[in-house]
Order: sequence, then structure tokens, then C-alpha cells
Amino acid sequence: MQPSILIYPFLSTFIIGKMFREQKTSSLKQIIMKTKLLIPMAFLFAGTLIFSMITGFKSLQDKKPWPVPDADKNKVNPLKPDASSISDGKALWSLHCKSCHGTKGMGDGSKAAQLKTEPGDFSKVATQSQTDGSLFYKISKGRDDMPSFKKKIPENDDIWSLVNYIRTLKSK
Ligand code: HEC
Repeated sequence: MQPSILIYPFLSTFIIGKMFREQKTSSLKQIIMKTKLLIPMAFLFAGTLIFSMITGFKSLQDKKPWPVPDADKNKVNPLKPDASSISDGKALWSLHCKSCHGTKGMGDGSKAAQLKTEPGDFSKVATQSQTDGSLFYKISKGRDDMPSFKKKIPENDDIWSLVNYIRTLKSK
């Protein structure tokens, strides 16, 4: 969830307020009703604001930095990103990664909703700007909801192929 959801309380209160304003206020009774409605409206506003702030800030917290040791960061990918490595990577991706990260790495896999931490969007610079070595390290080690694949994918070259495949997910 993005901090931009902060827009919702403003939007919902604005729409309800507008709907209400469009009614003609002719009698005294209607004017009193109008003032009474301001109270629930204020609660609605405060309520949705607090809710979206909590979810908004939670999503900011989720993006905790994931440090990678320098030695791992600087490891050189021994595999060229050729068609054969990319197709190996793609097959492994469908098998092990797609369920959380989604077909295109946008973090929208079928299991994504159950995760406590957001898997991120691999088409974006946040992931694409990291070195091959850093991505290798994270896939191999895992953290919290991100499983460690060291045992499930024991061949280093397979993990490097996954890294090569992740590069193809970059947004153009
Ligand atoms: C059970 C769900 C799940 C599966 C399966 C999964 N991941 Fe992840 N992955 C995550 C989550 C959640 C994060 C964010 C972890 C964090 O920041 O603590 C993550 C983070 C990552 C990162 C770091 C991204 C960054 O921008 O720093 C990489 C790389 C990655 N995953 C690759 C893979 C690959 C490759 C596979 C398959 C071999 C895979 N993941 C399978 C949930 C998953």
C-alpha cells in the first residue's frame, strides 16, 4: 500500500460534502439537519485519515533496508545474459518466484496478499540499480517472507540465471 492512499479521506469527505451541499436548504429543519451531519462527517474524516496514515506508514516501514556485504555485492555474474541463461531463469522464476513476485515481477503474485512485507516491483530502479551480486545474495539468503533458495536451488549458475531473468523485467 502506498502513502498516496492519504488522498481517500479527503476525497470521501469532499464527495459526501458536495452531495449534501447540492440539496437546497430552505427550511430551518433542513439547516439543523445539515449542522448535525457535520459531526459524523468530521468523524468519518478523522477515522479514514487515521486509518490511511497507519497503513501508509506501515508500508513505509516495510521498506527496511537490506544490507549486502561488500564481498557479495561485488561478485561478478559469470553467466552472460544470453537466450539460454534467460530461458533457464524464466523457467525457475515460474516454478519458484512467480507465486509471490508475479509474472512480471511487479509483486502481484497469487500469494502476495498474504505476505507481511511487500515483495517490491522489480521493474523499478530500486531493484534494477542493485548489482547482480546483491540480487544473488538476497535470493540465496532470503529474509522474513522472502525464502532462502540456497537449498532449493543449489546450483549457483541457476541463481545467476534468475538474476539475468530479473534484468529482463526492467521497465522500458
Ligand atoms: C513467499 C513469497 C516469495 C517467494 C516465493 C519469493 N520471494 Fe523474493 N521476496 C519476497 C519478499 C516479501 C521480498 C521483500 C523482502 C524484504 O524486503 O524483506 C522479496 C525480495 C526479493 C528480492 C530483493 C529485491 C530488492 O529490491 O531488494 C529479490 C532479488 C527476490 N526477492 C528474488 C526472488 C526470486 C528470484 C525468487 C524465486 C527463486 C523469489 N524471490 C521468491 C517474497 C518472495
